Amino acid sequence: MVTIANHSKEKLLYLIKMAEEFEKHPNRKILEGKVVATLFFEPSTRTRLSFETAANRLGARVIGFADPKVTSGTKGETLKDTIMMVSNYADIIVMRHYLEGAACYASEVAPIPIVNAGDGANQHPSQTMLDLYSIYKTQGTLENLNIYMVGDLKYGRTVHSLLTAMRHFNTTFHFIAPDELAMPEYYKMYCDTNGIRYIEHKDFDANTIADADILYMTRVQRERFTDLMEYERVKDAYLLKKNMLTHAKPNMKILHPLPRVNEIEYSIDDTPFAYYFQQAHNGLFTREALICDCLGITLEDVINDKTIIL
Ligand code: CP
Repeated sequence: MVTIANHSKEKLLYLIKMAEEFEKHPNRKILEGKVVATLFFEPSTRTRLSFETAANRLGARVIGFADPKVTSGTKGETLKDTIMMVSNYADIIVMRHYLEGAACYASEVAPIPIVNAGDGANQHPSQTMLDLYSIYKTQGTLENLNIYMVGDLKYGRTVHSLLTAMRHFNTTFHFIAPDELAMPEYYKMYCDTNGIRYIEHKDFDANTIADADILYMTRVQRERFTDLMEYERVKDAYLLKKNMLTHAKPNMKILHPLPRVNEIEYSIDDTPFAYYFQQAHNGLFTREALICDCLGITLEDVINDKTIIL
């Protein structure tokens, strides 16, 4: 699970079905005897904790680090050697790294499965699985939806991954970003090549978003800017206010990979449109499915599993 681009429509729907099984029964011993390593070279709250919760709730044990400063990387050990060492101890590695392509590189040198938990501004495929699961749960389908992506579309790995996955589902995308953070040409070409419709907007108001099924908000990521003056210029570019939801479709849902900084007014949290906290909760079930799938456990194994803890 290094990039979502490698996965067919059938595989994505299969993983959603597996996540549904785990939502029915999240506590099991199906991974008893397994060791899951979580290597986080960048900060994380949700991704690391939900992967570790998923492993723990399925009976696996967890090793790893949340801060590379405590590792021998500080003494000069290379990523390759770190991955080779951890492969001696664990059955699967979940890894977040600040360099684009780091997870792909790790997967080429590691003898065990690698899950990309985010590599720079590139991809975040496990986030995409929980996004797909959240969209499917709330809309009842992944097909023919209007998805509005707002904010940092340049560095936002979650929007890049989601866009890639939605090529299977006849999506119409609407991109709302300041010029400095516009969707990169590469991804617009990807849309053109894969027959994905997209419309770019500058306005962010009630009329612009009235047709949205999913409003996918993102944070402007300070850590990706080399010029902090530029960050200051764009950091508050798009704030979703409650009064902008007056024309929203009744079943429209607001997603956000989180953390939020200044993109969504807190008063929206109590409206039926807000789904970002449930979205993060869905990460537990989809990550249970991902770990199992990477370790060769099938949907049939999960359906017939006798290790459920009620
Ligand atoms: N969505 C997400 O990746 O959150 P964290 O950075 O807290 O893991």
